[in-house]
Amino acid sequence: MCGIFGVITNQKDISIGKIAFEGIKRLEYRGYDSCGIVTQFNSKLYVKKESGRIDEIQKKINLTDFPNGSKLALAHTRWATHGAPTKNNSHPHLDCSGEIAIVHNGIIDNFIELRKELTDKGHIFKSDTDTEIIPHLIEDFIKDGLNLKDAVIRALKRCRGAYAIAICYAKSPDLIFVARKGSPLVIGIDQDRATYCASDIPAFLPLTRYCYIMDDDELAKLEAGKVSFFNINDDTRIEKELQEIEWSIDAAEKGGYEHFMLKEIYEEPMALRRTMKIHKDQIINFANELWSASNIYITAAGTSFYASLAGKYIITKFLGKYIHAVECSEFKNELAECLRENSVVIALSQSGETIDTIDAIRWAKRKKGVKVLSITNVVGSTITRYSDHVIVTRAGPEIGVAATKTYCTQVLTLALIALEIAKLRKIESFEEIKKYYEALNSTPSIIEEFLETKVDSVKKIIRCLDKEHNFFFLARGISIATAKEGGLKLKEIACRFIEGYSAAHAKHGPISLVRDGFPIIFIAPPDETYERLIGNVMEFKARGGKIISLVVESDEKITELSDITIRIPQPGDRYHNLFSPITFIPALQLLAYYTALSHGLDPDKPLNLSKTVTVH
Ligand code: M6R
Repeated sequence: MCGIFGVITNQKDISIGKIAFEGIKRLEYRGYDSCGIVTQFNSKLYVKKESGRIDEIQKKINLTDFPNGSKLALAHTRWATHGAPTKNNSHPHLDCSGEIAIVHNGIIDNFIELRKELTDKGHIFKSDTDTEIIPHLIEDFIKDGLNLKDAVIRALKRCRGAYAIAICYAKSPDLIFVARKGSPLVIGIDQDRATYCASDIPAFLPLTRYCYIMDDDELAKLEAGKVSFFNINDDTRIEKELQEIEWSIDAAEKGGYEHFMLKEIYEEPMALRRTMKIHKDQIINFANELWSASNIYITAAGTSFYASLAGKYIITKFLGKYIHAVECSEFKNELAECLRENSVVIALSQSGETIDTIDAIRWAKRKKGVKVLSITNVVGSTITRYSDHVIVTRAGPEIGVAATKTYCTQVLTLALIALEIAKLRKIESFEEIKKYYEALNSTPSIIEEFLETKVDSVKKIIRCLDKEHNFFFLARGISIATAKEGGLKLKEIACRFIEGYSAAHAKHGPISLVRDGFPIIFIAPPDETYERLIGNVMEFKARGGKIISLVVESDEKITELSDITIRIPQPGDRYHNLFSPITFIPALQLLAYYTALSHGLDPDKPLNLSKTVTVH
């Protein structure tokens, strides 16, 4: 939550404001309550900040207009935690003298006591934020005679909580200090020309493909085109490995699409094909660990949690052991007394930075003999540091706040592990396993065909559902994951109220809401639950429900009972119901996308959300 960006360069004739503005705009998915930029020139800091979304702010105060000749800038986009989303609470925050500026992502837990201490010393605070104590602490240490670096270290040692921060000083035109504890921070290097810092790689991807990933308790001194790293605890130098980013530059751009969400839905076939190529050894490691585990838990949040519901279903089929799916925020509460030696915990997280998922696995790792296997989309993310084995999905950067292509690649990864287990256990014939692989390999082309031929059927449904505010998404078996995930998309992007539920269980309460015309979306692949689902469709139809169903091309029975259908391509023997969570979901993602548009909502910036949830 919150995005920070910084740049320091030795290039002449550049607009530092423009670089900072574009950098922070690429991080807007992390929060869009307010935004601000600070630059340094002639021993003075220049600050512009305002509440609202970046484009609106830009029209109001021109965030790119700063004194010519400035060579460094820090920028921030905020998801408000401490203090309302006002101009005063926007970052950057400054000390009393206005010479030290900082941008921050995270929460300083002990800010109340520090603020009191500093106020008693005469410091004047202008915001309600936790962040503002940091420049004042640094100011105090500089007054005591410390240099900037030592003052920053001393200030950070007084802070409890999480931070990724970047600091600049009016009297130091040639450097930026950054530090990390618990919140993500990456450094981009354009050798001998410019250095960048950011909460996430896409912020500087069009500027450089080389980066360092910072770890907790590290401080870095950024100069134009170079960087040095230090351990905050003992001030020793750290050598870090320079990494080359494999993503293509256009991953961080909309590339002709109106929104990132739409672009990322259309990227699903490519993301799946790339993920199919995950190194075999990594899949085998996961399969072996699951096979030898005594208990298996899978934990995640939001969309990743729904991917885990689909994945556990597929794995269980071949593993023959039950996998408990536990929401990461409740993991510790639910398992306090039962996590045993030889338990395996699978953590799923697109960003690898979701704080509750990280907390769950950190806690699990404390138990002797527990193994953590994680699946993430971000190389070097925090989750990977607490894991015994890691698989990185190959979806490429996902900028839209709504998770789309990463959901498909997470389910695919879990399905690949499941098939490896099937081979290990020799419970299926070679021919059978080959068929499963063929079906899995066909998921990208099924989605491609859907996107080429069926989008109009989704748009037609939007017109019929335009006035509706409440929806049920119902299914049985593995498709309950699809119902919940499809429903979550409509909820977060289009602001509709939805209940994603088991179709069978809905009789035990939710059905009482159904009136004439109440929209119910049934997810109905022709699997072993299909006949029973027909019964559920009839129950809802009999009470006046408007039945919208997702079925395969050849479907007849549920089609006949439905008011409207969306048909998923089913190419001969290359379609398999077991992988329907992958092939059915794009239809529901598009349903949410076009519903949002029809209500004038921005699908890339849903209300109150941030792409990465780094606070509890
Ligand atoms: O990065 P993660 O996969 O750990 O994120 C988990 C959730 O915060 C995320 O899936 C969230 O639910 C998205 N808004 C879903 O679209």
